[in-house]
Amino acid sequence: MSDFVHPLMSHLLVGVNGAGDVVLKNVGEADFTSPFWSWFVIAITVIGFLFCILLLITQLRARTNKPGEAHVQPHEWDETLQEYNNPLPRWWVWMFVITLVFSALYLWLYPGLGSYKGNMGLIDPAYKDGWTEQKQYDIEKAKLDATSKPLYDKFAGMTFAQMAEDKAAMQVGKRLFLNNCAQCHGDAGTGGLGFPNLTDSDWLYGGSPDAIKQSITAGRHGIMPAHGDILGGAQGVNDMANYVLSLSDSAHDAVAAARGKEKFAVCAACHMADGKGSMSDPTGALASIGAPNLTDKIWLHGGDMKSLTETISKGRDKSVMPAWDKLLGADRIHVLSAYVWQLNRSDDGKVKNPEQ
Ligand code: HEC
Ligand code: HEC
Repeated sequence: MSDFVHPLMSHLLVGVNGAGDVVLKNVGEADFTSPFWSWFVIAITVIGFLFCILLLITQLRARTNKPGEAHVQPHEWDETLQEYNNPLPRWWVWMFVITLVFSALYLWLYPGLGSYKGNMGLIDPAYKDGWTEQKQYDIEKAKLDATSKPLYDKFAGMTFAQMAEDKAAMQVGKRLFLNNCAQCHGDAGTGGLGFPNLTDSDWLYGGSPDAIKQSITAGRHGIMPAHGDILGGAQGVNDMANYVLSLSDSAHDAVAAARGKEKFAVCAACHMADGKGSMSDPTGALASIGAPNLTDKIWLHGGDMKSLTETISKGRDKSVMPAWDKLLGADRIHVLSAYVWQLNRSDDGKVKNPEQ
C-alpha cells in the first residue's frame, strides 16, 4: 500500500492512501534519513542532560556560606540594597534531581534518542521492538475491541429491523454516526449542499440494508460529467436547465425546455429517459452510478437556475463519500448501517426503507 501524504500534511496522524481511503499513518516510527541526524539529536540531548547535572553540582558547590546562614555579597546598590547568596532551597534541588531522574528513565524506556528504540519491552513485552505511538494505538484499540466484541457479536446476529428496535444498538449507531459522519451529513443526517440527506427516501445508491452497507464500507463517488460543449454552449445549457426544472414541475421557460428535451438522450444514459435517476433502472445495472432523480424537488447541488447551469455545463465530481471499512471495520459498519437505515421513518414511526 503506497501511502500518499503531502509533505505539509506529514505531521497529521491521518493520511489518504492510494485507494482514497482515510487511514491512520504509521506515527512514531523513527524517520531519520541518515544516521548523522540520529547522532546529532543524541549528542544534543545527552550534552544538554550532562550540562544540567553539571549545573546542579557546580551550583551546590559554589555556595560560599554554610547552610542556614545568609551570606552578603560584597556589593551594594541604591545605597542599601544588598544581595544574599543563599543556598538553593532543598525542595528545589530535589525537584531538579527528580526531573533529571525522570528524563533519564524516559530516555531509557522511550525512543527519544535519535533512532534508539528504547527499552519499553522490559516493562511490557508487547513493546519488545520498542515503543511507538502506532503500536500503543493498536494495542489499546485491540483491548477496546476485545471488551466491545461480545456486544458487536450480538448485533452481528441481528437484522436491521431487529437492531432498529434495540436501544443499545441504536445508541452505539448514533455515537458512531456523530463521531464519523455528522461533519458531512449533519447531526440528524439531513445533509446539505453536496452532501445527501440520509433521512428521506431519495437514495442515490439505494436504501436497502445491503446498499447502505456498501455505501459506507466502500465509499461512493458519483461523477456528473461536464456537458457545456456537448450541448453547444450557454444557450444549450440554458435550454437543458429549463428542461430539468420542468421535470419536477418547477417554474421554467416552456419553449426553452422543449428545445432541451430534444437533447436529453445524452443525459438519459445515466439519469434514465424519464429523468428518474440511475436507481430507477429496472435492470439495476446503473445502481452504482449515483445519478440523482431529477423529477423530485430534492437537489444535491441546488435547484436554482444558477446552480443547475453550473452543474450541467461544468459537471460535479467533488462529492466523495469516503470508504470506512479500514477505520471502522465490518462489525461497527453493521450497526451504523442499521442506524442510518432506520433514520427514514413515516409519521407513525415505521421505517420506510426496504428490508431487503
Ligand atoms: C467527507 C464527507 C463525508 C463523510 C465524513 C461521510 N460521508 Fe457519506 N456521503 C458523502 C457524500 C458527498 C455522499 C454522496 C456521494 C456522491 O454524491 O456520489 C455520501 C453518501 C452517503 C451515502 C449514500 C447516500 C445515498 O443517497 O445513496 C450513505 C448511506 C452515507 N453517505 C453514509 C455515511 C455514513 C454512515 C458516514 C459515517 C461513517 C458518512 N456517510 C460519512 C460525504 C461524506
Ligand atoms: C455519466 C453519467 C451522467 C450523465 C451522462 C449525466 N449525468 Fe447528471 N449526474 C450524474 C451523477 C453521478 C450526478 C451526481 C453527482 C454527485 O454525486 O455529486 C449527477 C448530477 C446531476 C444534477 C444535479 C442533481 C441534484 O440533485 O443537484 C443535474 C441537474 C444533472 N446531473 C443533470 C444532468 C443533465 C441535464 C445531463 C445531460 C446533459 C446529465 N446530467 C448527464 C451522472 C450523469
